[in-house]
Amino acid sequence: MYFDTHAHYCDKRFDEDRDELLYSMLDAGVSLILNAGSSLWSSKQSLELADKYSFIYASVGVHPHDAKSMTDETVVELETLMQHSKAVAVGEIGLDYHYDFSPRDVQKKRFREQLELARHLEKPVIIHERESLNDMLNLVREYSDLIGVFHCFAGSWETAKIVLNLGWYLSFTGVITYKNARRSLEVIEKMPLDRILLETDCPYLAPDPKRGRRNSSLYLPYIAEKVAQVRGMDVHEVAELTLENGKRFFGI
Ligand code: NI
Repeated sequence: MYFDTHAHYCDKRFDEDRDELLYSMLDAGVSLILNAGSSLWSSKQSLELADKYSFIYASVGVHPHDAKSMTDETVVELETLMQHSKAVAVGEIGLDYHYDFSPRDVQKKRFREQLELARHLEKPVIIHERESLNDMLNLVREYSDLIGVFHCFAGSWETAKIVLNLGWYLSFTGVITYKNARRSLEVIEKMPLDRILLETDCPYLAPDPKRGRRNSSLYLPYIAEKVAQVRGMDVHEVAELTLENGKRFFGI
């Protein structure tokens, strides 16, 4: 059975068939889904999905794109949402200097506040990092008492070692099935198997051969297949291993 550790089923691209799709998950071998919040609105929606489906858990947090929309009140609201029994992580949070939709000093301030929240609640964090590696690693080292995952990891083995040495996890999407994924495959080849998580980040990043379509957790086997190839394992072994890793990470 598979665990999709990062999905966005609140996205409007699922409005037409969300329930139908989610009802099909268990039969398709997907036994757990972490629906990731990226704003106050989507964090609330994630918890509603978690209420409705036994196999869905939620994370609560504001993405760096939306950091500029946060006020001092927002963190208080996030803390309230985190009281829900199926709110198992703070995320996705982080820094994104590629798009710079929020000023960098604002991103850092709001990211830090949410790291503090996770520390206070003793919950894991889901990290979004894009073109902000130095600032990110400095912050993460400061919060090395936390446990976290770098979601959609596409960094080098050098970076991976730093993250792994903190005791943190790395999560991989369908991007590892694309032609230019050699760097990620090197990381997968070398990293300890007990720190790897699988995710779709759906509706984004559909793996080959579904690239360009709307993604969903049903495509997790394509990602697991790639990991299995690289590690010389059976795809079912990869599914079970990453399911166990995910359950341990989120405390499910
Ligand atoms: Ni995401």
